[in-house]
Amino acid sequence: MTRRSEQISLHLNAYLTAHSTPPDAILRELATETAERYPNDVSLQIAPEEGTFLTLMARISRARSAIEVGTFTGYSSICIARGLGGGGRLLCCDVSEEWTSVARKYWEKAGLVDRIELRLGPALDTLRALPDEELFDLAFIDADKISYPRYWTEIVPRVRPGGVIMVDNTFSHGRVLDAGNDNPSVIAVRAMNDQAAADERVELIMVPLGDGLTVAAKH
Ligand SMILES: C[S@@+](CC[C@H](N)C(=O)[O-])C[C@H]1O[C@@H](n2cnc3c(N)ncnc32)[C@H](O)[C@@H]1O
Repeated sequence: MTRRSEQISLHLNAYLTAHSTPPDAILRELATETAERYPNDVSLQIAPEEGTFLTLMARISRARSAIEVGTFTGYSSICIARGLGGGGRLLCCDVSEEWTSVARKYWEKAGLVDRIELRLGPALDTLRALPDEELFDLAFIDADKISYPRYWTEIVPRVRPGGVIMVDNTFSHGRVLDAGNDNPSVIAVRAMNDQAAADERVELIMVPLGDGLTVAAKH
């Protein structure tokens, strides 16, 4: 199944993608290879229109230094890295050697190897090992949902004033609305959404792209 924004109709989504910059051949090939190799995990990948949005956000914010938490086979990392300004650097965090080996292959194809560094291991460890400074112009969170509140806590101080923080799956497929849903991942996403909305260091908007994308700008 093609990845798409979930909260709008199929027809409107088709119209939206037909009137937005489409993924190029490399991203299309990556999406196809991911679907063939990992048919049960294909839903982990962001929707194509979300990828275009990530590239635009990196470009518009003139980001040069970025971090991604949750890389999988590399789709979002390519979109972010392509939007970074000259000399831009993206730090990718993931636990899967196998999935990120596909990402490495496509970083090579996309000519982005010089821009991207991968750190394998639990992202919380990677984040906590970073200097406690404003290192990044842009951050994208898209890993294990259970850790979302802690990712927010670790990342916001490490983003410079004026920088952008984006978080994927903040609708949790609509389950955030169901107060009776006690799935730990849903509880964690709901908690992070509340934490982010109350965080006076940022202004933010939940964008109904993909499965909900929170976009925050740090004051
Ligand atoms: C939803 S996928 C990321 C999709 C990716 N952004 C894309 O566009 O294709 C989530 C990723 O988080 C990784 N992950 C899960 N738990 C993690 C952890 N504790 N630390 C770092 N990465 C983790 C998984 O290995 C997986 O690749």
